[in-house]
Order: sequence, then C-alpha cells, then structure tokens
Amino acid sequence: MSQAEVFDPTVYLNGEWGPLSEARIPVLDRGFIFGDGVYEVVPLYAQAEGARLPFRLAQHFARLNRSLGKIRIDNPFDDAGWRALIDRVIDDNAGAGDALVYIQVTRGVAKRRGHAFPAGLTPTVFIMLSKIAFPSTEERARGAVAVTAEDKRWLHCDIKSVSLLGNVLMAQHAAENDALETIQLRDGLLTEGSSSNVWIVKNGTLLGAPRGPRILEGIRYGLIEELAREAGIAFEERDITEAELRSADEIMISSATKEVMPITTLDGKSVGGGRPGPVYAALFEAYQRAKTREFAAEAARAK
Ligand code: PDD
Repeated sequence: MSQAEVFDPTVYLNGEWGPLSEARIPVLDRGFIFGDGVYEVVPLYAQAEGARLPFRLAQHFARLNRSLGKIRIDNPFDDAGWRALIDRVIDDNAGAGDALVYIQVTRGVAKRRGHAFPAGLTPTVFIMLSKIAFPSTEERARGAVAVTAEDKRWLHCDIKSVSLLGNVLMAQHAAENDALETIQLRDGLLTEGSSSNVWIVKNGTLLGAPRGPRILEGIRYGLIEELAREAGIAFEERDITEAELRSADEIMISSATKEVMPITTLDGKSVGGGRPGPVYAALFEAYQRAKTREFAAEAARAK
C-alpha cells in the first residue's frame, strides 16, 4: 500500500477529534509507562447504504466498566456518553467495509514515573476505528491452524488490560509457526488463546473453560452460550484437560475479530478429521442470525 493510500481515520483523544497520524500522548501517560489501562474492541458490520453497525455494544460497555472498576479508574462516561462518541467515530469515518472500534482508557498522565498511582489523575481516553476483513468463506471452510503453549500470564486475565506482553508473545509464537492462534494451557488445563476464547466439542457437548481470573470472558462467551441453547447443543463450563483438548472432536475459537472460527489442525495434528465440524457449523449459523436480529433492533433505534 502506498503512503497515499494509508487509512488515516479520525480518532478521539481526550475530547479532541483529529487524524490518527497526528494523535499524541505525553510520554508520562501511565498507559505508555506502565501499561496501566484497559481497552475494548467492538466489531462494526457494514450494512447496505454504507452504514456500519456495532454488535453487542452494550455488553462491551459493561465489560469496560468492569475492567475499569477492577483497576480503580472511574469510568469517564456513562453508556450514553460512550455511545455518542462511538456514533461520532462511525460517522466521521464513513466508508465501505467492516471495521473495529478500539477504545482505550488509561489512568492518565502523572507528573513523574512512580509505580503507585497518584490520586486525581484524569484518565486518557482514546477511540479509533480500523478496517477489518472477517475470515472469508474459504478460510472458514478450511479451518485454521493452532499451536499450544504454556500460559505464563498473570492471574488477572479477566481484566481487559493493555498490559498485553504475555498475549503479544503468544501471538508471535503463532505467527512464527504459521498458525492463526496459540492455545494456552496452565497447569495442564486449557485457558484461552492469545486473543480469543477457546471451545472444544466432546461427544456433541460444547465445553468452555471456566470464567474467572485465568481467562478474559469474551463478549462472545455469553453469546456462544446463548447460541448453543438456541441450537439445542449441550454446553458445560468446566475445566478442560490437555488430554481432552488433544482428543477433541472439534476445537474452535471466538473473538470480536474471528466471530467463531474452527481450528482444524492443532500442533500439526488434524482435529476431528481435519474439517470444521457440525457444532461449529450450527454455532456459526446461529451467530449470523443473532447479528441479523440485533441489526434490525439497531436500525429501529436509529429511526
Ligand atoms: N481480543 N481472550 C483474550 C485474551 C482476548 O484478547 C479476546 C479478544 C478474547 C475474546 O473476547 P471477545 O469475544 O470480547 O472479542 C478472549 C480482542 C479481539 C483483541 O485484543 O483484539
């Protein structure tokens, strides 16, 4: 892509709107110095007439509020305030194609570097839209490659923290092994991917690792529970052993950027015959129906 074609979205930073290429934060921002902040990634789906609609936005706001609460940053906006900003980010970056909204809130800019946080800082708020291509039909039909690794992250993975070094190294591990994702195990139990939740199917039952401090509860976690119910698929939230992972009939991952995506190769071995399985297919269909339902409600709200 030539320099002229680089997408330079209009972003929000601390009350100001301007091009991403010109957005600046002071180096003593605690997000920069300590990774002291949290974030959200919300998918936006292209509709007819160039509109883009968020999916599960209320749930993303609720999780942002929970993450902020866990690290003791006051939420700078209520849901209506956030919604107004998101609507403006969407309007100011009108164009074709699917996108993501990235929201980051850090503790703010301190006067000097010191680990403990001073009282009275004003949080830094940043919102940006970026373009994305969701997995294609061909990629879905083929399924993706995953590798495994030991989960060496801290034990507050439930906080959607911008301190992502552990996740970054795991994503790099996947990239260097020509894999889409690294599936992590802690003490012999499945936790999650570097940037996704992981699901397995055993004898027709869908299994997900327990919610709690060892995983980030994806917005798609509760959604997939709902979709399984709708599709008549039994679901259990419980510890999943490495042996169960390796002998699973199906493995899939979920995230804002992948929706639900089948894993057909794990550590070089094919999963369930090397093709996406029936539980994945049913959940993917149900996911598409859930979007259609929500977008109809969104469109009604906009009128
Ligand atoms: N990541 N677990 C981790 C560690 C994640 O980073 C993500 C999402 C998920 C799935 O959450 P959700 O269903 O809300 O997307 C689980 C986003 C996409 C990211 O960091 O870009």
